[in-house]
Amino acid sequence: MTTDQSAPSTANGTATAAATGANATQRFASDKQVEAQTPPERVSLLAGEVLSAIHDTIARHEVTYDEYNALKAWLIKVGEDGEWPLFLDVWVEHAVEEVAGKAREGSKGTIEGPFYVPGAPTFEVEGTLPMRDDEQGTPLLFQGQVTSVDGTPLAGAVVDIWHADSDGYYSQFAPDIQEWNLRGVVTADEEGRFHVHTMRPAPYQIPTDGSCGALIRAAGWHPWRPAHLHLKVSAEGHQTVTTQLYFPGDAHNDDDVASAVKPELMMDPQDVDGGVQVTYDFALAKSGS
Ligand code: DHB
Ligand code: FE
Repeated sequence: MTTDQSAPSTANGTATAAATGANATQRFASDKQVEAQTPPERVSLLAGEVLSAIHDTIARHEVTYDEYNALKAWLIKVGEDGEWPLFLDVWVEHAVEEVAGKAREGSKGTIEGPFYVPGAPTFEVEGTLPMRDDEQGTPLLFQGQVTSVDGTPLAGAVVDIWHADSDGYYSQFAPDIQEWNLRGVVTADEEGRFHVHTMRPAPYQIPTDGSCGALIRAAGWHPWRPAHLHLKVSAEGHQTVTTQLYFPGDAHNDDDVASAVKPELMMDPQDVDGGVQVTYDFALAKSGS
């Protein structure tokens, strides 16, 4: 199959790594401002250290030409498959996020991953995420309160939420799912409270038919992320938290392929009539702190 990166398609029936990767590549290119403002000394320091680490590994483990050529072929294929966003967000982003969030007070963040799309449908205070008439899964009510780190409720805080469906697929990246399915932006009330009705997501398997899958098989790893909700929580005068929340008891909470689980991000779901209910509060650090 070929993919046209100017118009990646999700209408080909299966969630291939190449189609998912092409969509993620296009999203990254259009949403993220990549500014080349890193001074040359820092580029030299960072690129130099990464290259030295590679050289050390090669020397320490006496890497052969066959192994070097296998690596070269694999790296070329990651690009051809459009899987760089998937590769980087699974195996690298968590380290960057740790550094970025280290000094910030308030609710913990974790990786954004490749599947955020800005501009989802909005609603006020309480509503249901866009979903198919026959959306499968267990109904989930996700609610909470957004405050400042000093406890002041943040009126009009905004909670942007996106997650996989009960098969582990994301709208706009997997085929045959309507646009904005299980994605929405809720504005909280005067006390910073919000209520989101949705369907419990399933664990997510990173695409295994492309080059990331080939690495996983070659290394004897597994492709699973535990089930999770993705969130961006923001409020005027405060730092936005990009995070994920997890369900206790998931088989991969302790060995997430993307290393993004933190103890503070575990939810406490309660069984209620016809589904589950989660209350999770967010505390945001002030801007500039
Ligand atoms: C990937 C997918 C996710 O849903 C996520 O949260 C992080 C990474 C990925 O496929 O790279
Ligand atoms: Fe995800």
